Amino acid sequence: MTDNIERTHHQTRAFQPDKLSPPRDFMLPNIIVENTAEKKSSAPLILEIGAGKGKHALSFAAQNSDKHLIAIERTRNKFDAFAKLAKQQHLSNLTPIHADAIAWTVHAIRPNSIAKIFILYPNPEQHNPNQQWLNMPFFEFLLSRLQEGGEVILVTNIEAYIDNAEQQANEIWCLPNTRSQVPKDSQRTHFEVKYLARDEVCWELKMHKPEGYKTRFDNWKAETIDNNK
Ligand SMILES: C[S@@+](CC[C@H](N)C(=O)[O-])C[C@H]1O[C@@H](n2cnc3c(N)ncnc32)[C@H](O)[C@@H]1O
Repeated sequence: MTDNIERTHHQTRAFQPDKLSPPRDFMLPNIIVENTAEKKSSAPLILEIGAGKGKHALSFAAQNSDKHLIAIERTRNKFDAFAKLAKQQHLSNLTPIHADAIAWTVHAIRPNSIAKIFILYPNPEQHNPNQQWLNMPFFEFLLSRLQEGGEVILVTNIEAYIDNAEQQANEIWCLPNTRSQVPKDSQRTHFEVKYLARDEVCWELKMHKPEGYKTRFDNWKAETIDNNK
């Protein structure tokens, strides 16, 4: 991939999706198989990265029956707890996925197909800024999967993380954004409940993908998707 392909952000280092193998036991979920360009009748797709034990995913799906949430968690014991609850609650608009979100997104998600992405309390190792989502070349790929007018919602209790994310959203990714404090009585996730109970301040950064936004991956689609057409 050359660097002179049009883009509307200032990220130079390009992500290399061709180098990523599909996650082990990869299967394209029905909601993706069904949601083809020809048949766009299915519910808006929402993605959650790092869903933990699924507190937010379960309540979001229960409260938004007109949308379909794909919630990804890579830690086995958290995913098992989430998957068990999801099964008990019979939510047909929720797809829990046990995988690394980067490899899975590359192999399962079509460009310009996601209405909203939640990244709630990602908690990277504090000394390793490369683990922050907006510092990763993958973030450009993630933006290519988002529809124009779509949103990425990042929430964290780490002030340095939100400061950096806000700066990167403005200076590198050129995404209009709003930053706010999470209300003290919010209870979206287990980590949110824990931090707010300790009187910590939590922040939310809502980033908006504008019309005409271009990435170097807007026409890139994995073979795993084509094979399931
Ligand atoms: C601090 S926990 C927060 C969990 C939940 N969002 C909450 O707020 O309670 C971060 C979660 O993100 C998951 N995670 C981190 N990187 C991931 C990735 N690349 N793919 C999938 N899950 C990831 C971790 O396994 C962990 O469960």
